Amino acid sequence: MRILGFEATAHTFGASLVEGNPDHPFSSHTRVLSNVNAKYPAKPEGFIPRQLADHHVKHYARILKESFASAGMRPSDVDMVAYSYGPGLGHSLHIGFMAARSFSVVQHVPFLGVNHALAHVEVGRLFCKQDSPLAVYVSGGNTQLLSLEPRGSERRYAILGETLDIGLGNFLDLVGRHLRLSPPDAVGVLKAAPKGQLIPLPYAVKGMNVSFTGLLTTVKRLPSTTPPADICFSSQEVAFSMLCEAVEKSLVLSRKKEVLLVGGNARNKRLQEMVRLVGKEHRVKFGVPSFEFCGDNAGMIALTGLMQARHEYGKNRVPDQKVRVDQERVLW
Ligand code: FE2
Repeated sequence: MRILGFEATAHTFGASLVEGNPDHPFSSHTRVLSNVNAKYPAKPEGFIPRQLADHHVKHYARILKESFASAGMRPSDVDMVAYSYGPGLGHSLHIGFMAARSFSVVQHVPFLGVNHALAHVEVGRLFCKQDSPLAVYVSGGNTQLLSLEPRGSERRYAILGETLDIGLGNFLDLVGRHLRLSPPDAVGVLKAAPKGQLIPLPYAVKGMNVSFTGLLTTVKRLPSTTPPADICFSSQEVAFSMLCEAVEKSLVLSRKKEVLLVGGNARNKRLQEMVRLVGKEHRVKFGVPSFEFCGDNAGMIALTGLMQARHEYGKNRVPDQKVRVDQERVLW
């Protein structure tokens, strides 16, 4: 089966084509034929939803054509369409929905809605060959510790811990914007951090939950003489340490033998190093997907669509900005 996937939950618009057997989506025969994505660049004013929508509309035709060209396929070769139906920003989600729905109508193929958070974790499981991990999902909008658990005849993700306010990535993005770094986001913080030294910042772990807004307020109130590199280094070290404490508690509670780091901020090498170390201390296998499959991309939507295809799970779904990952059934 060949599946066309669209990603459009926030800053990225992407189209991907994958091929595989829906009865065995985790088989080594599953192939990503193309994965073409355009990301709206970080700006000092942040993301304005209407401008994101304009970006997605502008790049739609080029992305779709490039995805088919790079896969060597025609639209009539597609058997099913998958798109990210949530969680995300309304403007973006509706562009992904219309892209999928239009293709489905014209080509007479079914379309499925894929949960964006679920897709981040499922491609991690696929590429890192993990069956039942503790997933550490870190991105701009989300920070969650997820445990795949049996529920009767199926499985679901339980949220063991999460941020009580903003996501880890959003916190780092806001530090980058506050310091007017280049780029003004988490990548700017990552680049500046190695030259910094540790300064005292508040540490907030509540059970297996974390909170970043107090940390952000303190950073914004630091004297203007504070070296930006020190702020970047300390913001990362303190925020990542908080997360690692929550990961450690979750591992002990869940007795998981695998820990999987996923989401856009899983690209951060320092965070990878710290979570890997927690895993090592608890004799737990660590996994992180490749750079391409950590950030938002259409490939993860198409691959999760392949997993859902056998049961036509998520058929005809409309966008849902607030859907949570523990609402999804894991039938594969
Ligand atoms: Fe994401």
